[in-house]
Amino acid sequence: MTWPNDKYRAATVTRMAPIRGDLDSLPTYVPGRNIPGAIKLASNEVSLPPPPKVLSAIAEAATIGNRYPDLAVTGLTARLADEFGMEPERIAVGCGSVSLCQQLVSIACAGPADEVVYAWRSFESYPIVTQVAGARRRVVPLDAEFRHDLDAMAAAVTPDTRLVFVCSPNNPTGTAVRRAEFERFLRAVGPNVLVALDEAYREFVTDPDAVDGTTLLDAHPNLVVLRTFSKAYRLAGLRVGYALGTPEVAQALRKVGSPFAVSTMAQAAALAALDCRAELLAACAEVTGERTRVRAALLHVGYTVPRTEANFVWVALGERTAAFAAHCLDQKVVVRPFPTEGVRITVSTPEENDALLAAALTFER
Ligand SMILES: Cc1ncc(COP(=O)(O)O)c(C=O)c1O
Repeated sequence: MTWPNDKYRAATVTRMAPIRGDLDSLPTYVPGRNIPGAIKLASNEVSLPPPPKVLSAIAEAATIGNRYPDLAVTGLTARLADEFGMEPERIAVGCGSVSLCQQLVSIACAGPADEVVYAWRSFESYPIVTQVAGARRRVVPLDAEFRHDLDAMAAAVTPDTRLVFVCSPNNPTGTAVRRAEFERFLRAVGPNVLVALDEAYREFVTDPDAVDGTTLLDAHPNLVVLRTFSKAYRLAGLRVGYALGTPEVAQALRKVGSPFAVSTMAQAAALAALDCRAELLAACAEVTGERTRVRAALLHVGYTVPRTEANFVWVALGERTAAFAAHCLDQKVVVRPFPTEGVRITVSTPEENDALLAAALTFER
């Protein structure tokens, strides 16, 4: 943090803020770094801009930016209902799926006795939203292949567990949960615990055995599926995601969300992006082709790279993680390090991927 001037800083640091003390121990969300002139492969974005039709929709929506957005997100909700063949009452749209993660903890947990179970390492928002809600965390390590250990997660569920996050494909390791193991997990957990399947990267999945949560919703009323427009639909900067579940869960999510959290521009952009779906999904297919190439090249020179179903690869580097990230930065490529564990690298265009591979191949391990 930089301060505008010394006078302001002096005034700020001497003041005691009347805020909760436990925020000191709250993990901080670490965004991928933007470094001018460098290739950013650190935030799992698609590097192409939104299609022209989406940009026009955003510009047109901005002309009524003086008015509040449609609180009920009517048009987008109806369109998603059509797409998934379900009632609009079962859909809650939010300011990105990260906001829906927070809303899920709010609707499931009422105090410190309530627990949230999730795998680790997984999406860095889960510990943050759990602690902010004042709930207890139960963390289950990934298995030796960087996958969710769903049997161990089911065993970690106690009578106090209110919510389980399952991330598939998992951020940051890219591994996907299989349908059969997820169904077994749902049976083991039972109907009284909310299970959130976070599928932010679903459009990049090519493994036919990977779970698709939308196909399990009717059989499992405790299941909530999270999806986003931030990745395949190229709207990370517009902030729009959605949850699919029962009407009761969707209504509860809407109840605890900030009013007007989904802007008019975000609603219009998401609708237009759905119109461009064929083009956007074709670009995802190019990314998954590149993913195979990048992973193969890294495996070929001896890196440990688990099979990934997302638009990124995980390279397990242990103590060499920081050195690898620094080396890539020297070559003007920004990756996302998780110190002492590994780096997550977004798969991008062939040119950007080549720059990453050139850096990886010259790194001394
Ligand atoms: C697993 C996972 N869930 C949710 C999100 C949040 O996405 P959104 O941009 O919709 O808030 C991300 C973003 O990186 C993610 O990796």
